[in-house]
Amino acid sequence: MDITELKSIFSERFGKECCVYTSPGRINLIGEHTDYNGGFVFPGAIDKGIYAGICLNGTDTIRAYSIDYQGSSEFGLNEEDKPSEAWARYIFGVCREIQKRGYSLGGFDTVFFGNVPLGAGMSSSAALESTFAFALNDLFQLGIDKFELARIGQATEHNYCGVKCGIMDQFASLFGKAGHLMRLNCATMEFEYFPFNPKGYKVVLLDTVVKHELASSAYNRRRESCENACAHIAKKHPEVKYLSDATMAMLNEIDVEIPAEDYMRAEYVIGEKQRVLDVCDALEKGDYATVGDRMYGTHYGMSKLYEVSCEELDFLNDIAKECGVTGSRVMGGGFGGCTINLVKEDLYDSFIATAKEKFNAKFGHEPKVYDVVISDGARKLDN
Ligand code: GLA
Repeated sequence: MDITELKSIFSERFGKECCVYTSPGRINLIGEHTDYNGGFVFPGAIDKGIYAGICLNGTDTIRAYSIDYQGSSEFGLNEEDKPSEAWARYIFGVCREIQKRGYSLGGFDTVFFGNVPLGAGMSSSAALESTFAFALNDLFQLGIDKFELARIGQATEHNYCGVKCGIMDQFASLFGKAGHLMRLNCATMEFEYFPFNPKGYKVVLLDTVVKHELASSAYNRRRESCENACAHIAKKHPEVKYLSDATMAMLNEIDVEIPAEDYMRAEYVIGEKQRVLDVCDALEKGDYATVGDRMYGTHYGMSKLYEVSCEELDFLNDIAKECGVTGSRVMGGGFGGCTINLVKEDLYDSFIATAKEKFNAKFGHEPKVYDVVISDGARKLDN
């Protein structure tokens, strides 16, 4: 599927021309499950995204067609009930969240497809939300800034899709810049672009093809554990607004007050904060050994303390270690999906071959391999 085909499918269905908008998925080098804890994340947008042809239709109705699901959905701008098709709820939610903020929208027709692997931890859903939030802002000239567009996508997840996610994915999808990662402070929303071109290394994702189910309350439960730990700490230390503001000493003061599970989740989050800062410093010095070491540290924490890894991800992480890969860890929310690997170029071929062979021998299928290209965020494509 490409843009020319997208446009011709649109004009066959709706008998007119469309504008095309796109917004990408993301990787995250380090800083996982820190966004909803007011911590740092370090994502970049990728060269895979959602592509939507859109044209206003002068009515109050949205008519949408998903090329990937080969299905259509129609809903009114003032309708209360969300559409029955799961994919259409993202578009519905974005419209409702824009309207809730007092902006007026009109109806539109849309046809879209995506090439972000689904359930792989690369944020296909944020790409979908960001595509429509960005496009509607542009088409209706609403003047909403990109931070608020990101919050509109995040609120869509919270209110229409049941995932109490943080802001990282929507932020990365909207603010991405080719060749750069972004270190975002999720408490203040201040961020910095870091050029990312690790000479002599490749960044590669290995997809277990095990689907994670973020919506399956496991993600939301992690968030509740963090909020519980934070609330106990804040009673003694009112300056602590987010769990990422806390220290291990503060956590240890309240360890008997909270369930052991909540303690482990908090221990991971507090450790992850320092790992992101270490990685940013190390990158500026070209010290990839430290970058990689912290990535392994994150994997350990996500597997043993935060418990969002799985057998397949741990297996890929072990293979990376055995092969001498510089850094490797589970990426994104977890519960399946990908590992992100920082690999020396001369090791790349043998690592991929070994990972495929061993994973296949154990699980009966090969992991999928995606080379990472850090790309631009949401935009309108020239017609
Ligand atoms: C998912 C969520 C993000 C973030 C990551 C984990 O991708 O959408 O907000 O919490 O998990 O870092």
